[in-house]
Amino acid sequence: MRRIMVAGNWKMHGTAEMARSLAGDVLAALPEFPDVDVAVFPPAPYLALLQSLAEGSRLEWGAQTLNPNAEGAYTGEVSGVMLRDLGCRYVLVGHSERRSLFGESDTDVAERFDAASTAGLEPVLCVGETREEREAGRTEEVVERQVDAVLERCGIGRFEQAVLAYEPVWAIGTGLTATPEEAQAVHAFLRSKMARLDGTIGGQIRILYGGSVKASNAADLFAQEDIDGGLVGGASLKAHDFIGICRGASRDG
Ligand code: PGA
Repeated sequence: MRRIMVAGNWKMHGTAEMARSLAGDVLAALPEFPDVDVAVFPPAPYLALLQSLAEGSRLEWGAQTLNPNAEGAYTGEVSGVMLRDLGCRYVLVGHSERRSLFGESDTDVAERFDAASTAGLEPVLCVGETREEREAGRTEEVVERQVDAVLERCGIGRFEQAVLAYEPVWAIGTGLTATPEEAQAVHAFLRSKMARLDGTIGGQIRILYGGSVKASNAADLFAQEDIDGGLVGGASLKAHDFIGICRGASRDG
């Protein structure tokens, strides 16, 4: 049985004070949804703060990106090894903003996935199509290409300790959400692709949905067979909204 996961991607928002208060509110609410795994992805400067606040609790944290190299003369960059030092369990790779704003190609994403898992982190591999690609009927082809780049470099075995996130680009930060049925169809496609390569990994890998997840739509999305939780952007910045999504994810609640 896959546990539901709710992950908050804070992107480049907030201050140390906000990080402290948001993490504090989420920590206090955790007993309300014992069956939900909760993780937050603060901006890199606040990872150490998360570590000091959340270490020893069941709140987990991760980074939003990493450099593919373990160390070296890469001014401004942060490696997976350093993220492990900060207690990160996860790191996002291939988020659509990294792909579109920072020019990360499928190959770059595969390198980062490789570096993350080599460093002992669990990569959260984000894939998703643009509106034009969806309208052209190319959704499956696009997400398959994005996953294949990682499979070719790393192999299916590395997905034993990884998470997939389906985030249609047209739904990110737009208020438009894929319907539960639209999202489920892509999740099922991704799961069957993984299962063809390794039945165990296909059955156990968590596939999160991202793109305008809110407290009002979370329960319907997460009720779908192959949707194992959410990667939440905007709504993760307000404790009330994020905690509402975690409650919606709970099958005990
Ligand atoms: P959103 O962002 O929830 O604001 O649409 C999701 C994401 O980018 O991960």
